[in-house]
Amino acid sequence: MKALITYFTMGGRTKKTAEAIASVLKNYDISYFPMELKGKFIEKIKQLDKFENNDFSAIETGLDTLDAAIYDLIIIGMPTYGDKPPKTFDEIVKRMKNFNGKRVVVFNTARFTGKKSLDYMKTKVEEESAQVIDQARFRKLLWIGVKNAIKFGEQINEK
Ligand SMILES: Cc1cc2nc3c(=O)[nH]c(=O)nc-3n(C[C@H](O)[C@H](O)[C@H](O)COP(=O)(O)O)c2cc1C
Repeated sequence: MKALITYFTMGGRTKKTAEAIASVLKNYDISYFPMELKGKFIEKIKQLDKFENNDFSAIETGLDTLDAAIYDLIIIGMPTYGDKPPKTFDEIVKRMKNFNGKRVVVFNTARFTGKKSLDYMKTKVEEESAQVIDQARFRKLLWIGVKNAIKFGEQINEK
């Protein structure tokens, strides 16, 4: 089976979690659409600000190729910003071609909250008529480990 993993990360926690999940998905060939802010902190903030103001020009080419058709599973991972996922989440869901009816896993990372944001992600995916088969929140104030992500990945692998 084929899986597409797409995630957004500014500090690396969501990327680390996505890769830990992927490491145990033995039943899937995995492709990635990563959205990773790079450079100095100020550069990351500037790019984040553009995304939050719906300027996706930096990743437009990638967004344009997003197509769920060949995948059996789509995994979407996001950090939590002010109790919502970043705007890139909405854009991914909006732009994904052939999303209707697809099996989807959503997860997020957070420091304090994240439940409301995860519910938002699930609802948005379902509004596009895709099917959320599993979801998880990885909440850690400081250092985020991979133990729970691996456990979650094993759970997905069996689905
Ligand atoms: C601008 C901003 C807003 C945030 N808002 C929240 C929040 O509302 N709730 C929360 O639990 N964590 C919040 N966080 C923490 C991040 O969601 C958390 O550190 C996440 O794991 C970062 O993922 P990343 O390292 O992949 O970028 C916020 C972080 C930033 C930078």
